[in-house]
Amino acid sequence: MIITIDGPAGSGKSTAARNLAKQLQFAFLDTGATYRATTLRALREGVDLTDEAAMADCAARLELRMQRRGDDVAVFDDGEDISLAIRTEEVSANARYAAKPPAVREVLVALQRDMGQQLGDFVTEGRDQGTVVFPNAEVKFFVTASGEERARRRVEQLAEQGEIADFETVLANILDRDESDYSRAVGPLKQPEDAIVINTDPNTPQQTIEQMLAHIQGSR
Ligand code: DC
Repeated sequence: MIITIDGPAGSGKSTAARNLAKQLQFAFLDTGATYRATTLRALREGVDLTDEAAMADCAARLELRMQRRGDDVAVFDDGEDISLAIRTEEVSANARYAAKPPAVREVLVALQRDMGQQLGDFVTEGRDQGTVVFPNAEVKFFVTASGEERARRRVEQLAEQGEIADFETVLANILDRDESDYSRAVGPLKQPEDAIVINTDPNTPQQTIEQMLAHIQGSR
């Protein structure tokens, strides 16, 4: 069984996907990690991020492995644990250069399908999972939340890590990421026609999972 979860950055889809996979005892595929790993390689190698062929070459040279570690999934590239290195602000801010070029997406979509094939039942999370990568998935979710609520959560999360962030700046970053996610020509963030839409604004993380489980049970 394949369950896809797509949605914008900060909507809560990643937490939901991880928890859902755990509760169902399914594997979990973090497809954002493939774009992040490509970006990390490009930054480390000093590649011109706007050079689409060079970015596609970085993607083609990935040797990715994802491995469950406690409640999380560790990401390795060519044997190196890059789980933390792909989550820095620098990688987050530049991942759009990996996400936009069709040549990169072609390589990474193929990689994601290959990884999926080895997983058995799995939950996959990204932007184009229900539309492009796994259009035949049994259950598709599209997770949304308002920009303001996503910014509020992010500011709270940063505060927990001891960082004081300005709400308006965080909100502007989120809206900027939305713009680049929704507007790219290939693999844009888009609601699959057959998706169940969940707005997480009023939800606790647990409520989102419960709504998802209720839909999955209904579809079995
Ligand atoms: O979900 P995330 O923040 O880890 O995603 C990182 C980047 O990759 C972000 O720019 C969106 C992009 N992405 C994508 O284009 N397609 C996916 N399936 C997953 C992520």
